Amino acid sequence: MTQVNLALGAMRFGSETDERTSFAILDRFVDAGGTLIDTANCYAFWTNPERESGHSERVIGAWLAARPGVRDRVRIATKVGSLPIGDGPWPENREGLSAPAIASGVADSLERLGTDRIDLLWTHMEDRSVPLEETVHALADLVDAGTVGRLGASNHVLWRVERARRIADADHRTGYTALQLRHSYLRPRPGAPVAGHNHRLGWVTDETLDYVKSEPDLVLWAYTPLLSGAYTRDDRPLPEAYDHPGTTRRLDELGKAAAELGVTRNQVVLAWLTGGTPPVTPIVGVSSTAQLDEALTGATLVLLEEIRTRLDAAT
Ligand SMILES: NC(=O)c1ccc[n+]([C@@H]2O[C@H](COP(=O)([O-])OP(=O)(O)OC[C@H]3O[C@@H](n4cnc5c(N)ncnc54)[C@H](OP(=O)(O)O)[C@@H]3O)[C@@H](O)[C@H]2O)c1
Repeated sequence: MTQVNLALGAMRFGSETDERTSFAILDRFVDAGGTLIDTANCYAFWTNPERESGHSERVIGAWLAARPGVRDRVRIATKVGSLPIGDGPWPENREGLSAPAIASGVADSLERLGTDRIDLLWTHMEDRSVPLEETVHALADLVDAGTVGRLGASNHVLWRVERARRIADADHRTGYTALQLRHSYLRPRPGAPVAGHNHRLGWVTDETLDYVKSEPDLVLWAYTPLLSGAYTRDDRPLPEAYDHPGTTRRLDELGKAAAELGVTRNQVVLAWLTGGTPPVTPIVGVSSTAQLDEALTGATLVLLEEIRTRLDAAT
């Protein structure tokens, strides 16, 4: 079966999406050839007043346990670094990326997932209070131990990723080979904060795409690619960051492409991401198998060059 270039976002599993529905989505994903599952140790602390988390990893762990043999068919990606600690405000009070925080965060994730390895470990957000060398070596130690397969950086600025990669290279250690940032077909206004993150550095920019194109070992994953449903749903207004004239032109072209192809706007967006240069892996969050089916068809759709050129030209 062909592998699908789509990651299943498990952020809401076990919290907003109940276990039964989460299992059905996971089953459907694997049946359709999906392999990549994205979660984090801090999902979803913001859904409850006690700021408890681990719901998503626990549901994935329960699903792996209930489906013998499925562990070898999927690649689990989880994140460390953003877990709230203490009662103070987040993100100021979070576990961070010191060597002990990484080691204990990953140990807890393995326990919740009920597995002995994480295929891709993301550092969820930067921690500039810790020397980069310490983070790089703590991550590489996990790879050397066989606990982690691959390393990725999420919500990091490029110069920090590049610096971390240089440190790893110079010390003959395994470094980052994956980036995870917010990205979709619509472009945010320059300088607009990433919704819910209160910072301006989590977006894919032209520089990100150029960097990934130039570094053959790097892959790029895009979060919130469907803008939480805003391309197709009136109940999901576009975030304020997209309030500029280029959005009107892009939505126009997107609508035309979807009508010509007889598909949904969501599907055109996913096809645009997966078939671009560089190819991007969208991480889609779904709360039903119907939404998942729509995403799977979109991710495997191949856009005619002429349509892609028109979509790209709308700025
Ligand atoms: N690294 C990071 O900092 C970071 C940040 C955010 C997310 N992520 C990752 O990215 C994943 C996806 O993020 P996201 O959930 O923010 O973005 P998203 O995939 O753009 O939006 C997901 C939501 O869109 C709606 N939706 C999905 N498919 C739809 C369809 N076919 N038709 C209509 N509505 C549809 C659903 O809303 P309803 O459920 O309400 O129907 C769904 O919950 C997460 O699960 C997580 O793994 C990472």
